[in-house]
Amino acid sequence: MSDTSYVDEVAARAAESGRTATEQFRQRLGGGGATDQARVDLLASRVIKAINETVIEERVTYEEYNALKAWLIKVGEDGEWPLFMDVWVEHSVEEVANDHRSGSKGTIEGPYYVPDAPTEPWNGTIPMRDDEPGRPLLFQGQVRAVDGAPLAGAKVELWHADNLGFYSQFAPGVPQWNLRGTFIANDEGRFEIHTIEPAPYQIPTDGACGQLIAAAGWHAWRPAHLHLKVSHPGHELLTTQLYFPGDPHNEDDIAGAVKPELILAPRPRAGGDGYEVDYDFVLDPE
Ligand code: DHB
Ligand code: FE
Repeated sequence: MSDTSYVDEVAARAAESGRTATEQFRQRLGGGGATDQARVDLLASRVIKAINETVIEERVTYEEYNALKAWLIKVGEDGEWPLFMDVWVEHSVEEVANDHRSGSKGTIEGPYYVPDAPTEPWNGTIPMRDDEPGRPLLFQGQVRAVDGAPLAGAKVELWHADNLGFYSQFAPGVPQWNLRGTFIANDEGRFEIHTIEPAPYQIPTDGACGQLIAAAGWHAWRPAHLHLKVSHPGHELLTTQLYFPGDPHNEDDIAGAVKPELILAPRPRAGGDGYEVDYDFVLDPE
C-alpha cells in the first residue's frame, strides 16, 4: 500500500465516525433529558448572552458571522455534534456531575461507548483479532466500596481504540466488538483483563471539527486511553478513562479529560510479553 492510499483510508474512516456517533446517540439517548422551562430560560439566555458579548467585544464581522453559520451547518451535515460536544463541553459537565464523589475520579465518556459488549470472565481476554497489532497489556485491579469492602461481581466495561487509533463500530473494517468487553469481577472484586495498548487518538480531521481545528491552528490529538464504566448495585456508576505515562498529549488533551489520578504506572510484565498495570476502582454509594 502506498503512503497516500493509507492516508485516504484513514480519512475515509474518520468521515464515517461522526455519522455513526450521531446514529448511536439517537438510538441510546436521543430523546434528550428533562427540559424544565425555568432552566431552559436561564441556560439559553446565558449562552446567547455570552455569544453576543463576544460579538460586541471582539467586533465580529459579517464575514466571520457567515463563516460561523456555514460551519454550524456543516457540523450537522457531517454528523459531528456528538464529537464536538464531547471534545469541548463534556469535561465541564462531568466535573459538575461528579464533584461530590469521594471514590475514584471519573472523566468524560466520549462519543464511542456501546452498551452490552460481550461478557467475559474476571480474568478474560477482551475480544480482539487473532493478529491484533499492539503491545499486550494486562490490566488488573480490584473494585471496592469507599469503606474498603470488595465489591464481588462488579461489572467492569472496557472499550478502547486499536493500535491505529480506531474504535470498532465507528470505523469500517474493524470487527463489531473488537476491543470492547464486559468483565465480571470475582468474589474479591478482582479483575485481570488481557488486552493491547491503544494508540493515541486523533479526532477526525476531515469533517467540521477538523476544519475548526485547522482554521484555529490547534491540534486534534487525545492521548492514548482506556475507557471504563465500573458498576455494582447500590453504587454510583463510574465512567472514566486511564492514560499512559509519557504520552505528550497528557498535557494538552484536546478534550481536556486527563487528570493526574488517571495516569497509569505500567511495568514490563513479569515472565510474559508486554506490560501489566494495577488500578483499583472505588465506587461511591448511591
Ligand atoms: C472523542 C473521541 C474519543 O475517543 C474520546 O475519548 C473523547 C472524544 C471525540 O472525537 O469527540
Ligand atoms: Fe476515546
